[in-house]
Amino acid sequence: MSEAGDFYSCRGVARTFENGGKTLEILTDVTFDVAAGELLSILGLSGSGKSTLLHLMGLLDRPTKGEIRFLGEEIGQAPESVRTALRATEFAFVFQFYYLLPEFDALENVMFPARIAASAGKPHRAPVGGRERRERAEDLLRRVGLGERLRHRPHQLSGGERQRTAIARALMNRPRIVFCDEPTGNLDPRTAAEVHGLFRELNETLGQTFVVVTHDPRMAAASKRRIRLDEGRMYDDAAIAAAAALATSAGAANPVSGAAPNPD
Ligand SMILES: Nc1ncnc2c1ncn2[C@@H]1O[C@H](COP(=O)(O)OP(=O)(O)O)[C@@H](O)[C@H]1O
Ligand SMILES: [Mg+2]
Repeated sequence: MSEAGDFYSCRGVARTFENGGKTLEILTDVTFDVAAGELLSILGLSGSGKSTLLHLMGLLDRPTKGEIRFLGEEIGQAPESVRTALRATEFAFVFQFYYLLPEFDALENVMFPARIAASAGKPHRAPVGGRERRERAEDLLRRVGLGERLRHRPHQLSGGERQRTAIARALMNRPRIVFCDEPTGNLDPRTAAEVHGLFRELNETLGQTFVVVTHDPRMAAASKRRIRLDEGRMYDDAAIAAAAALATSAGAANPVSGAAPNPD
């Protein structure tokens, strides 16, 4: 990749919803790039549009306006067959409530995306054979610290262990980007801190790209870059810092305090 924008970018992305005869503008002119290998947090208060944006980015929804580009192609309005194949192979998800299959053990849950990729006819980097699938799933479960829990079903795992399993599952097909929606929102602070460390470690050791939407400042602190959503508009941390420095030197009150509050 010569430039960040070649990997993944949003350009002028908007999303409106029609509700009760009114048009609600939830995202407005969202523009930013994601570089390969980033651990990026998108911060914002509840209701600021984080999940809406993540769903657009991960192709679970379509923007009303603007472009979403991945590896040089516009994918926001691509045919559904293209988007389904991307979701099955190049992108993966981690959600707040894990969504593990209760009848399957940890190993089977982690192997599952390889089956989906094969049935979508798009194995790409997904392991084709059963033995290779199993070896990769075992390796991933060891990496997330669950080498001793391969045969546990979700109800036999703690919340943190379930989320570790979901993270291992997300990595199964070696996706280019893992999109995470409040991945530590359901965990106690200590377990959450361990999961933040795990994202950091997987980012550093595997070069895995993560885009994490969160209102948790500790997740943001564990990330390498932060951007903020406030009422559907995007603010880069560097721009916020520059504006704050300018305001301080001018002796004015912080001009961005209303525009981009610190989430807590
Ligand atoms: N399908 C929908 N129809 C109407 N409004 C929606 C829909 N989805 C989300 N919204 C509204 O968009 C706003 C942002 O929601 P969301 O993206 O879930 O925020 P966050 O994840 O930051 O808490 C909220 O006010 C929510 O009510
Ligand atoms: Mg949300």
